[in-house]
Formats: sequence, structure tokens, C-alpha cells
Amino acid sequence: MCGIVGYVGRRRVVPILLEGLKRLEYRGYDSAGIVYLEGGELVKHRSEGKLANLEEKMERLPEVESTIGLGHTRWATHGAPSERNAHPHSDCTGRLVLVHNGIIENYHTLRADLLARGHVFTSETDTEVLAHLVEEHLETDLVTAVRRALAQVEGSFALGVMWAGQPDTLVAARKQSPLVLGIRESGGCLMASDIPALLPYTNQVVFLDDQEMAVLRLGSWQVLRIDSGEAVVKEMQTVFWNAAMAEKAGYKHFMLKEIYEQPQAILNTFRGRLNPQTGAVELPEIGLAPERLAAVERISLVACGTSWHAALVAKYWLEKWAGVPVEVDIASEFRYRRLLLNEKVLVIPISQSGETADTLAGLRRAREMGATVVTICNVVGSTMTREAHGTIYTHAGPEIGVASTKAFTSQLTALMLLTLHLGRLRRTIADEEARALAQGLLDLPGLVERELPRLQAETAVIAEEFARSRDFLYLGRGVNFPIALEGALKLKEISYIHAEGYAAGELKHGPIALIDREMPVLALAPRDGVYDKVVSNVEEVKARHGRLILVGSEGDENLDRIGDRALALPAVHEDLAPILYTVPLQLLAYEIASLRGCDVDQPRNLAKSVTVE
Ligand code: AGP
Repeated sequence: MCGIVGYVGRRRVVPILLEGLKRLEYRGYDSAGIVYLEGGELVKHRSEGKLANLEEKMERLPEVESTIGLGHTRWATHGAPSERNAHPHSDCTGRLVLVHNGIIENYHTLRADLLARGHVFTSETDTEVLAHLVEEHLETDLVTAVRRALAQVEGSFALGVMWAGQPDTLVAARKQSPLVLGIRESGGCLMASDIPALLPYTNQVVFLDDQEMAVLRLGSWQVLRIDSGEAVVKEMQTVFWNAAMAEKAGYKHFMLKEIYEQPQAILNTFRGRLNPQTGAVELPEIGLAPERLAAVERISLVACGTSWHAALVAKYWLEKWAGVPVEVDIASEFRYRRLLLNEKVLVIPISQSGETADTLAGLRRAREMGATVVTICNVVGSTMTREAHGTIYTHAGPEIGVASTKAFTSQLTALMLLTLHLGRLRRTIADEEARALAQGLLDLPGLVERELPRLQAETAVIAEEFARSRDFLYLGRGVNFPIALEGALKLKEISYIHAEGYAAGELKHGPIALIDREMPVLALAPRDGVYDKVVSNVEEVKARHGRLILVGSEGDENLDRIGDRALALPAVHEDLAPILYTVPLQLLAYEIASLRGCDVDQPRNLAKSVTVE
């Protein structure tokens, strides 16, 4: 997620912008830029890579006297990381400049219309469209021009806008992407994506809500409704965070913050791609003609770790709903075995980072063998996205915690979108089934958002009982078997407890020898097509005095009857259970690791991106 900082006041603006952007670095970014008013003109400086590159640029310049400006760190979503794609972006005149965090869903159409009206673009970003839209309404004042431009926009935004025609004014606007104001007693006003950027200057803040905008000047600030322009009375709040805490937005760890960001990550991943009414999916960035996609004879999914678990889930979905045979490989195996690939095979490397060495090697082998390669990735411009034929981006935002959480549920969301897309192209999915899955996907963000606090409270209680365990067994069947693997991986990688995930039906083929009072077993038992089989499996665990945590459907009396502990989840389409059922397993791992005093965000021996073999 991008970082935004803005200031208008009596102090030199450049140091404030750079310091503010530095305090937002934890959000992850790939380029940075600032703009300030000097000599009646808006002066921009941008650089690719780390903020230090921009700071070096500014150090080589004479000290800037300006006291009004905007800064931005970019997490690329449209357009690869580069100086030309870095914010701020300008209109044709260079006298209107803005910074943006969010996704403009209808930017393709808007850009085409603006080009047809003679606008000249200098970047591949969706953001630049906004600058040209505002430009078209600047015959009035800046606030009216911004309101009229935003009336044409679909998607999410946090905006900072400046216009040389109103040199004393900053305009902020918010829809979905966070934006907070900071008010100084001296009359200075700030805006930022997150509180850390404000803390050195004030702890008096005003949170903008969706569809609100702010007009900031030295000594005055006002909040308006974007649609009506009516003034909104806002409450000033005092923030008692220290900067370190605030980087995590008050969460103790990035991992917990990212678990709670999952509703937004899932929403951002299907936003603008899924038609709620018909279940139709649009994936223009996949880079393949529909007929070529429909003609695919086999799919080969390649990944590591958590991303491999997402691939295992997708196998169930793609074979069931798209009628195409699917192979799943761990990338370190895939890259060395004899592969039978050709142009009729669609190879899909799945990777949060887009840099994992084994997965990247698999991608390259697939391309050498003439296969069509589409990657599912969370990092725009990462190596895999540049070497694949096409990319389906997850829009989870930067994932800082080493243990993957929101990226995983976003990968599953992207894979379900692909399943729906392929099922419709190949006419293997009935309309009502497509609509049911689409509606289930649309309902997920709200459902996860609502359940998170209760699930965290309940898993914290369970964690107290099991935090000292030495071993753990996770069981799941069907589409939830990979979630048992994922739950076990989450626990082992952050709490260092030995945990194994197993297909519940495999219990009798060995693991049941492990069951005794010392071996906790967590079983996933949603009411689905294999529910009865799972119940009989867990009865076997109980018969051998195993300690059982059952994760299943609300209203299922078996959960408390059979389980020593139970976690009940609301009803969800059985094929979407893997997304919902992952959440309590993430929280259980988090709570146990926290109780054990482990370094949750940076577990021992692990790296966020394994860029070596
Ligand atoms: C997941 O929690 C782990 N951090 C790890 O297994 C990770 O999923 C794996 O290294 C793959 O990373 P990637 O998705 O960036 O390719």
C-alpha cells in the first residue's frame, strides 16, 4: 500500500515530507517522490527504489524554502516500478499535481476517453488518469474540480492534490484507502496515509471517512462530503501511540495486522474483476486470448510453501468447475524432474514475492519448453511478472510478516477468479453455480471482518491450553486438506512446534500411531460432502484419548460433543471454506507463538523471500 504525506504551514516542507515518508516505509514500496510549490510553480522530484535515493537527490539541491507540498511512496499496482511511474503525477500543464493510494477500476475507459480528448500521458499508472480528469474541471476552483473528477471514478483512493492556481491549498480525498489529518496548534496542517507520519509534529488527528475530502490551508482546515460538497463536522482525536507501535497501526505485530487486513485484501483482489450479478470474471492482464485459454489441455501449478498450499486448493476447484486436468508441483521438485510440457499446457507459478528462486526456475523451464506461463503474484514488476506471458495480481498490499497470511487468502481469491473465468470460457460451470460462488466470494470480506475479533478471542483461550505442546497434528479432507497443511506450516514456522498436516483419511495409514493425550489434533470439519468421513476420523482420535480441537460449522452439535475445544464458523459455500477456515488457524498459530515469546514477524532461520535455492 502506498504512503502519502502532505503539509502546509510555516515550516520548510521538504524535511517534513521526507521524514513522514520514512515513517511509512514499513508499508512497503518500490519508488518515491515529492512535490512542492516554488516560484509559483509545482516542482517534482521522484526516484525509483528506496527513499534514500530521493533523499540523495534533494541533498544535492539548494535548500528549498517552500512551506507546502506532498510526498508519496509507491507500492505498484498498475505500471512497473520506475521513476516515470512514481508519484506525484501531473496533468498536461504541470500545474495540477496529485498523489494517490488505491486502485482506479475504470481507468482503462477513462484513459481512452482522455486520450481521445487530446490529453498526453507520461506514465502507465491508473493514478495519472485522475490528474487529467481534475484538469478538465479547473475552470472553477480546486475543490469543485476534484469533486467533479471523482464523480467519474470507480475504485478506491486516498488522494493529495495541489494546484498552482491555488498555491495556499492542499486538498485530500478518501474512499476505501485510509487518510488521516494532523492539526498543529501553530496552524500547520498535515495529511498522511497512516498515523506514524504525523507523530513527530502532532498527536491531534482527524480521521477522514469514506467519501470525505479535506481542504487544508495555513491556520484552517475543513472537511466536506465529496458528493454533495456539504461541510462535515469531524471530531479531533488525540493519539497516544509511539511511532514504533503506530507503524503497526496499533497491532502488536505486522502478522496480526495483516491477518486483520485480509477482508480488504480479498476485496481488493476481486474488485473490478468479478460481476456480482452474473459471476462473470474479467482478467484482462492475463495476457491470453480467451480462445487460447479455453483450449488449454492441462494446467500445471508450481509454487513453494504457503503458495503451494494455494495451488493444492486450486486443483480441486479447477478440475471440478473448469473440467481441466491439473498437476501441482513443489517448485524445487518441478525444476529438476522430467517435464512433459508444450504450448497446450498452462503453467501457473504462484508466488507472493515473485522472486522465489525455485519457482522462478520452474517458470523459466516452462517457458523453455514452450508452455504458456501465467503467474499469480503480489508484487508488481517482480521478476516472475516480467518473465511470464501474463500475470494475475493479488492486491494484498505489501506483506511484511514472514509468515504469509493475507497474500495466501488473496492467492486463493485470485485462483477462484481464474476458476470461474475458465469454467465460463469452457462452458463447464452452470450459471447458477457460477453465481453462487461469485456471491460467496463477494460475501467473504464482510464475513471475515465480522468474525475476526471473536475468532482471535477464542483462539487465544485455546492457545493457553496448547502453547506448551511439542507436537501437533492438523487434519483436513477434500478442498480443506491443503488448509490442514497450511495450518501446520503457520504453527511450525512461527512457534517452532513440530506440526504436521495430514489428509484425514490417511490417519489409519500411520499417523494414528502418534495419538495419545500428548498429541493435540486439530481437525477441519465444515458441513460439506466429506463431513461424515471427517467425523468418523476424529472419533478414532477420541477413542485413543487424543486431545481434539474441532473447527466446523456454527450450529453443529458434534463440535462440542466430540471436540475438547471447538471453533465454530458461519456458513459459507463449501468450496470457499478454505479461505474462511484458514483465518482461525492463522490466529491460533499467532496466539501460541506470542505466548511462547517467539519473534512472530521475523521467525528464526526464515526469510520473507527465498531468493536462493
Ligand atoms: C509462508 O508462510 C512462508 N513464509 C513460505 O512458505 C512462503 O510461502 C514460500 O517461501 C513461498 O514464497 P513466495 O510465495 O513469495 O514464492
